[in-house]
Amino acid sequence: MPSPRKPKSAAKKSVSIASGSNRLIVGISGASGIVYGLRLLEVLKGIGIETHLVMSKSAEVSLAYETTVKVAAVKALAHTTYSNTDIAAAISSGSFKTRGMIIAPCSIRSVSEIATGVTSSLMSRAADVVLKERRRLVLVVRESPLHTGHLRTLTQASEIGAIIAPPMPAFYAQPETLADLVDHTVGRVLDLFDVDAGLVRRWRSDDQ
Ligand SMILES: Cc1cc2nc3c(=O)[nH]c(=O)nc-3n(C[C@H](O)[C@H](O)[C@H](O)COP(=O)(O)O)c2cc1C
Repeated sequence: MPSPRKPKSAAKKSVSIASGSNRLIVGISGASGIVYGLRLLEVLKGIGIETHLVMSKSAEVSLAYETTVKVAAVKALAHTTYSNTDIAAAISSGSFKTRGMIIAPCSIRSVSEIATGVTSSLMSRAADVVLKERRRLVLVVRESPLHTGHLRTLTQASEIGAIIAPPMPAFYAQPETLADLVDHTVGRVLDLFDVDAGLVRRWRSDDQ
């Protein structure tokens, strides 16, 4: 008689609550406003959220045009960074649990890929995975003015579940510096994940 099969090691493991609630994927694409991505990484690091960063080549170009910050310094803000060509990275699979993804800033090129499911880069693949797993995807799309094709693309992305959150300044918060404007946008994006990093001066709240 063959001896009974040993239980697989996985069966011995205790059942755990789904992980990933403290993980966010951050994408930085080549739209103007790289500062939004940088500030987002900085804030998330400060409040202990595990960030998984993917940056496009064009983002590196605009980083050099818009700041004096080096790519290595951006990557150092993240918990883990991936090459945008590494389609086998953890964030390319739905089995890698996360709370969702923010692309800030998000170019028209990237939102177009996401809206159509083209996923030719890790960034658009990771965004597509977030949508298929019904997790939260927030796109800080920056372009102006917008033609009808852009507007249709944004509608398509919204219809498949993405949240379109352009970086629109809120003057009711009476910003005094560019940093105030950036913080308000970053804070409102984090609101969409129920993360309050204390950046938002809220309308009619007691602290005004
Ligand atoms: C300095 C700079 C600013 C740019 N600003 C924008 C922008 O605001 N919005 C946009 O959609 N594209 C912008 N572009 C063009 C994108 O970088 C370009 O379309 C690129 O192919 C986007 O690729 P990615 O989505 O892989 O980052 C800008 C390019 C440069 C160099």
